[in-house]
Amino acid sequence: MKSVLVLYYSRGGHTARISRAVAEHLAATGHQCDMMHINEAKAEGIDWAKYDVIALGACVLYGSYHKSVFEFVAEHQAQLSAKPASFFSVNVVARNPEKRIPENNKYLQKFIELSAWKPNDVKVIAGKVDYPSWRWYDRMMIQLIMKITDGPTDPKAVIDYTDWEDVKVYAEHLVSLAK
Ligand SMILES: Cc1cc2nc3c(=O)[nH]c(=O)nc-3n(C[C@H](O)[C@H](O)[C@H](O)COP(=O)(O)O)c2cc1C
Repeated sequence: MKSVLVLYYSRGGHTARISRAVAEHLAATGHQCDMMHINEAKAEGIDWAKYDVIALGACVLYGSYHKSVFEFVAEHQAQLSAKPASFFSVNVVARNPEKRIPENNKYLQKFIELSAWKPNDVKVIAGKVDYPSWRWYDRMMIQLIMKITDGPTDPKAVIDYTDWEDVKVYAEHLVSLAK
């Protein structure tokens, strides 16, 4: 049995849902997994010694990640580098399978470039378009991005692009990173 910690930053809840799917699959396959929003981890602290593997996931917002993600990894660079650890980026450009290849995903590359922690293991996961839940300004901006990239622009569109079976494969991959 391995023990995995999934840290995440989620704005609308989808990255949290992906983290939960990882945790549930690991529990169902005989492992232990905790998940924590990075704000919670910051407030409560982390017992790093409890875990064999760490995963950290964040959603892409306007071409980058919330600044608390970069602050968190800078503060915990030593702990993240001391164990097998993986970073996963959640974005809707990854609805295109080509853009799920880390080398082809500019947001994943951006994380590697800007992060103080340089993860050895990375993953790109397609997120969710949810126009009705987004504020009008966000909706307009994302419609614009979608227009440029040939994506959905219907303001009523709710499309989950996540490959949930592949999320389970990623969960198993995390366990395989443990020494
Ligand atoms: C304000 C905002 C900006 C976004 N910007 C981008 C972007 O630049 N590129 C992209 O691929 N996806 C972008 N997305 C899509 C999100 O990454 C996607 O919806 C993700 O599933 C959100 O995860 P969350 O629910 O955990 O916040 C954006 C979403 C929002 C709400």
